[in-house]
Amino acid sequence: MQVIIVENKEQIAQEAFKVLKSLIDKKPDAVLGLATGSSPIGLYENLIKAYNESQLSFKDVKTVNLDEYVGIDENHSQSYQTFMREHLFDHIDIQLKNTFIPNGNAEDLNKECARYESMLESMHVDLQVLGIGSNAHIGFNEPNTPFNSTTHVVNLAQQTREDNARFFDSIDEVPKQAITMGISSILKAKKILLLASSIDKANAIKQMIQGPINEQVPASVLQNHDDVVVIIDKDAASEL
Ligand code: F6R
Repeated sequence: MQVIIVENKEQIAQEAFKVLKSLIDKKPDAVLGLATGSSPIGLYENLIKAYNESQLSFKDVKTVNLDEYVGIDENHSQSYQTFMREHLFDHIDIQLKNTFIPNGNAEDLNKECARYESMLESMHVDLQVLGIGSNAHIGFNEPNTPFNSTTHVVNLAQQTREDNARFFDSIDEVPKQAITMGISSILKAKKILLLASSIDKANAIKQMIQGPINEQVPASVLQNHDDVVVIIDKDAASEL
């Protein structure tokens, strides 16, 4: 794992931007695995800026997202579809038909998971952007998710629902389930870029990098991947 420690969120976003720009420069039809949450927002802002300055085009880029809530409308203000449109897709020249997010309203959720997984297999993700939960989840793979898991439905951990309650009117409105790429789906990406800031992530970061590899710490599995870049601020690095 390559670990880059910077001062603050703005620098995380700049460093992450450089990694994505160099990939898209080399491969204009790259397949990007994307995440939602606060961690990649600055990166997305930099991508939008580069597009506005004609430094980057996304017209041949394809994207696959890690996860989506189950049971909220895709146009709900907190759906990950809405998040991706608001924070990235509506502001760049990507073709919406080239963007893929699990359908959390599918009638048969297990069928949807199988469909998404086989789509991922056919697309070969070049670079997967990840955040990390304070309990070291990646995607919505909570502690004790098997490392060989593929795309599946998860019951969200209470801590994750509490962490995300700030985006909803109350904790009762936070969905109880999500569809997520599994751990083995994530590991198939050729390169992984994990972004984290703040003291809340310090323990998860320490366990991910220095702890034993075990299913209680989902992100520890990244030690097994041969091309992982971790970009964190000083606070997130404070327990290393
Ligand atoms: C989001 C996702 C989650 C987040 C994680 C960190 O698509 O899969 O694993 O990356 O919960 O969230 P933030 O960045 O909001 O701290």
